[in-house]
Amino acid sequence: MSVPGYRDNPAEQWDPDAPVDAIEAEEFLRLCYGEEKRLGPVEPRLAVVRAQIAATGTYTQTHDEVAYGAKVAWRNASKCIGRLYWRSLVVLDRRCASSSEHIFALLLRHLRQATGAANPGQLRPVISIFPPVTPGRPYPRIWNEQLIRYAGYRRADGSVVGDPRTVEFTEAMTALGWTGRGTDHDVLPVAIETPEEGVRLFELSDGNVLEVPITHPDLPWFGELGLRWYAVPAIANMRLTIGGLHYPLAPFNGWYMGTEIGARSFGDPDRFDMLPEVAKRMGLDTSSEATLWRDRALIELNRAVLHSYDLAGVKISDHHTESERFLTHIRNEERAGRTVPADWSWIVPPISGSATRVFHRYYDEADQRPAFYLDEDAHERAVCPMRRKTSASGQ
Ligand code: ARG
Repeated sequence: MSVPGYRDNPAEQWDPDAPVDAIEAEEFLRLCYGEEKRLGPVEPRLAVVRAQIAATGTYTQTHDEVAYGAKVAWRNASKCIGRLYWRSLVVLDRRCASSSEHIFALLLRHLRQATGAANPGQLRPVISIFPPVTPGRPYPRIWNEQLIRYAGYRRADGSVVGDPRTVEFTEAMTALGWTGRGTDHDVLPVAIETPEEGVRLFELSDGNVLEVPITHPDLPWFGELGLRWYAVPAIANMRLTIGGLHYPLAPFNGWYMGTEIGARSFGDPDRFDMLPEVAKRMGLDTSSEATLWRDRALIELNRAVLHSYDLAGVKISDHHTESERFLTHIRNEERAGRTVPADWSWIVPPISGSATRVFHRYYDEADQRPAFYLDEDAHERAVCPMRRKTSASGQ
């Protein structure tokens, strides 16, 4: 299929109407009870789950199972370099929520906890887990790719105010009645779709969104660029699958690695595209690629991001530190008798790859469950909602 930025996805064929896979349920329970000895023997639990599936076509997981499953899904996330702390994931069990009002209130509590509650900036990895799919029934979901994202507005001359990545999503929000202020940093509303209420938009207020103005440790003009970014990267549209159950609404966050912002959000030509402007202000010779002006501007952008988050007391990490932590994670996992599935093209940072040790090796590429998947229609809702193949109400 042809959505830009969409990559091969092993679970592309997920069928929300299919009955729960009893074999996957059993495999998960054996894994969970095998790794978490405090949960006791698995056999009695297997008997209960088998009976439930036979009688109802699905089953209910215990809180411990959901919590452990979510942690293991993070552990299995082959694109994530930050998995050393997988055990520390804070799991908020929100399986009781169904109205969009209630879901939004719980998302605000998620953001507050993720941002550090009493200590804003001391970010915590958090996941909120809403109800699983009952096969054949419609289910609530979030359209946004992240809980916090900046709007993008296309001007008549084709240029963009804000984040070009969200132009189509912003148009969809506008069509649903939302009006942004028209700045580079308008936080988008959260679009929650429920079977009962359809899509409803909810505004995040300033108090919900910690942000960091970007300055540079020794280039005084840097602040004049007016760059800023939010503290909490919270992916909102990936489906969590645990033991044959599917949780399409399970937003999760960690903290940023600087390059995600400094190299990709600020540097990519189809995002904020700041390299030419930074190079100009630095007085670099841009007459030839061979002067490496792009690379020099990239490094200063990345220094600025790390410096600014530190200055603001907002947790962030650099790619050298994160690379070493990832290798520690691999060692820990191997010691526990497990292999670490990893995707080299995502693990290696977008700048200075070969200066990090994660560059100089290969990884296992297994698709292990529990896992997070980005479904095609979820991706479409977030990136090109107006061009979707599926209709707004169709599940
Ligand atoms: N790369 C995404 C962004 O730039 C965030 C993905 C999740 N990142 C994380 N550090 N947990 O917003």
